[in-house]
Amino acid sequence: MFEEGQYFAPVTANEDGALEVHLGADHPGFADPEYRARRDALATLANNWRPGTPAPIAPYTDDEHRVWQVVSEALVTKHRSYACREFLDGKESLGLPIDHIPQLAEVSEWLAPLTGYRYQPAAGLVPLREFYGSLADKAFWSTQYVRHHSVPLYTPEPDVLHEVVGHGNTLANPRFTALYELAGQASRRVQSADALEFVSKVFWFTLEFGVLWEAGELKAYGAGILSSPGEIEAFRGMNIRPLDVATMGTQVYDITDYQDVLYVAESFAQVEDVVGGFWADCTDDSIAAILARTPAHA
Ligand code: TRP
Ligand code: FE
Repeated sequence: MFEEGQYFAPVTANEDGALEVHLGADHPGFADPEYRARRDALATLANNWRPGTPAPIAPYTDDEHRVWQVVSEALVTKHRSYACREFLDGKESLGLPIDHIPQLAEVSEWLAPLTGYRYQPAAGLVPLREFYGSLADKAFWSTQYVRHHSVPLYTPEPDVLHEVVGHGNTLANPRFTALYELAGQASRRVQSADALEFVSKVFWFTLEFGVLWEAGELKAYGAGILSSPGEIEAFRGMNIRPLDVATMGTQVYDITDYQDVLYVAESFAQVEDVVGGFWADCTDDSIAAILARTPAHA
């Protein structure tokens, strides 16, 4: 079983300051020298970014724009069918391009009048505390590279499509960003690694892979489902369980495949009440009390 974060390929720095991304032998881009060079270049670009400045402009290739277009076009009708209303409202107000990859700096400008969230470029894995903590400052750490063209429908490695199509459309809606901010504040309040892991698992099963009932139909609100043309066709057939913080915070999951256990809310308002309410006042003690009476769910 993989832990969250392990799918980020390790990154090392050369003497000249350039970064090298070490894709595993099972990565679809492993035997593609052009793709590997792109990954190195984009990681180096992100590494040279300084906080307080706009995200650097990534000079995407035509092939990369094409991958974005293929996925974005596939998602037009799939979102209409399977995304919740709050996501569709965000998508409508953000108006992302379909035919080319927007720059993180541009998306940040578009988000500014909507919710004030902005993107910060990540060269590789951002430590949990840093990733979640930044959410409290309305900053979203994001990859800039694109999934390999051979796997447009699903990738276990978060890429710019996931960050911008999956998360960006939610970051355009204040009802969503209120939840992101609460998760960020919760992550800063808790001290122990166990409590932080609990907070992050609740995030995983809600803002990444959450589903809800809307007028009798099962819809997705999690960014991980909404950025994958493959998974968005599959989530309704998964093992759907009632929304429960104690269960979500202790559930073990596999990051390398479609999520087979999902938690359903009765409405978006229930996510705000139950999940937002949890993040709003959780502490090390309140989480330790939940853990003490909840066996881990394998
Ligand atoms: N599977 C998602 C997609 O294909 C991207 C993704 C990779 C992801 N790792 C993730 C989503 C972790 C959520 C959490 O678009
Ligand atoms: Fe994500």
